Amino acid sequence: MSGEAKEVLLRRLEGLEQMPSIPVILGPLLRYFEQPLESLDVQGAVDLISQDKSLAAQCLHMANSPLFGRWQKVDSVRSAVVALGMQRMRDIALSCSVLKLMPDDQTGIDPTVFWEHSLGCALVSRRFARRIGFADHGKAYLAGLLHDLGILVNLWILPQEFQKAMALARSRGIPLHEAESETMGLSHCDSGRRLAEQWDLTPELVEVVSWHHQVESASNHRALLALVSLSDLLCRMNGLGHGFIEERQVNFLEQPGFALLLKECPTLESFDWARFTFELEGYLDEVHRLVSLLYRPK
Ligand SMILES: [Fe+2]
Ligand SMILES: [Fe+2]
Repeated sequence: MSGEAKEVLLRRLEGLEQMPSIPVILGPLLRYFEQPLESLDVQGAVDLISQDKSLAAQCLHMANSPLFGRWQKVDSVRSAVVALGMQRMRDIALSCSVLKLMPDDQTGIDPTVFWEHSLGCALVSRRFARRIGFADHGKAYLAGLLHDLGILVNLWILPQEFQKAMALARSRGIPLHEAESETMGLSHCDSGRRLAEQWDLTPELVEVVSWHHQVESASNHRALLALVSLSDLLCRMNGLGHGFIEERQVNFLEQPGFALLLKECPTLESFDWARFTFELEGYLDEVHRLVSLLYRPK
């Protein structure tokens, strides 16, 4: 890719003109749930979610999934908030509202595959955070959910170029960001950063979106970033990637994210990767079922 061609792509990204503004419901949800959990009230959350009927219906599907730990059926947004608690409901509502970000007309990536990867990474990040005693585990789910926001930007703004990158990644079995860099001179991390900043996401989310494939280059929020980066890799290596098999042998202990995370969470030293991977395989089917229930192409 010539320097000039890359410049043209960067200019198209700068404008973000074809990119929608933050979805009507996502902005208020993010702002509401950014407040400390103790200051949130049930009625406020119920009112916010109920403003959008399709969002409320999707939230109920998720609230009734074993992935969110519910055994007893909930049949209203209010009973879901009461039964699951505010933190789970925040995770659910934000997951459903980001579903609305996919462009109607796109051929670069199967939307179901993309959402399975995003939801899978959110769930793995949350479980991983708990397991290793990561202090900020409340943030892990959201960071996992949004880490690949840049893929959506590429679908909106650089669809043809992105399609070529996907084709290259698929044919050579290489990670998507490497194929993007080779064909476009930039990756979904570059495009995601622009959108995350434009939407005024929190600094740690901007960092995760921007550096999850290059954790060693980041200067802030490195532990969260490393956690999401390892969770992303776990998903990609275990059937929740971008719809193709990456021909890589991965040793998690040699990943730059591992050393970074170890500094914050010493229990990572004795982490049972095989068991965690086995557990992930156990909920793959439920991720597939849930996404097929939630995602209805328009
Ligand atoms: Fe990524
Ligand atoms: Fe990813």
